[in-house]
Amino acid sequence: MGETFQIPPEKTPKHVAIIMDGNGRWALSRGKPRLAGHRAGTENLRRVIRASVEFGVKYLTIYAFSTENWGRPPAEVRGLMHIFENVIDHELEELHQEGVQLRHIGRLEKLTPKLHKKVLAAIELTKNNTRLVLNIAFNYGGRDEIVYAVQNMLQDGVSAEEVNIELINKYLFTVGSPDPDLIIRTSGELRTSNFLIWQSAYSEWYITPTFWPDFDKKEYAKALQTYADRDRRYGGVSDEHYE
Ligand code: FPP
Repeated sequence: MGETFQIPPEKTPKHVAIIMDGNGRWALSRGKPRLAGHRAGTENLRRVIRASVEFGVKYLTIYAFSTENWGRPPAEVRGLMHIFENVIDHELEELHQEGVQLRHIGRLEKLTPKLHKKVLAAIELTKNNTRLVLNIAFNYGGRDEIVYAVQNMLQDGVSAEEVNIELINKYLFTVGSPDPDLIIRTSGELRTSNFLIWQSAYSEWYITPTFWPDFDKKEYAKALQTYADRDRRYGGVSDEHYE
């Protein structure tokens, strides 16, 4: 599909965010343990990161672990932490070579000091890369992000009159990234699951029944094409509807 991908740059979403759902069901349908689904999902993530660079997406945000995911069985939580650590240990160098800038959204404090340190080192190493910004949402929750922003504003002595949309944007974990143009959710669920709830006010959604490990480049291109065909009005009306 790479060769035939012909969406003009102005119709390509600058920022794509993905809820990588369905790893568990993918594994179950193959008689494998859930963690095998997360490992297959990680493999797929590598492909989607590459495709993002190829398609000209500039910001990619992935929902890897939510504030609610702590409620999963301890072995699965440990497995997901281990996958994150593995990604840093084994993929970071290549991501760096490919010009990917790694950022983290969410709270790092709850991770082990070792993982916390590795994430900070990865951010530092890649901070000047410009080909693609990869925001990894890990221990992220949209409501938690807003709570954290309000706490920090109060601590900074921000007055009621100073609070506006731009200021709130500056206090969110996503500071420095534009709002997502397109949010993709795999595995067919129709909910936001606490993902970028402030930033997604005018995002376009693309929902596919495909489980995340099977969401390939071809389907990614289809999502981008669907986005390109949409008419974004941001609460207004499009020019053609004016007399
Ligand atoms: C949702 O599927 C998926 C997750 C909670 C984890 C996603 C993580 C990865 C793909 C690994 C990449 C990680 C990093 C740190 C880069 P689910 O388990 O809820 O699936 P189900 O709804 O079918 O049970």
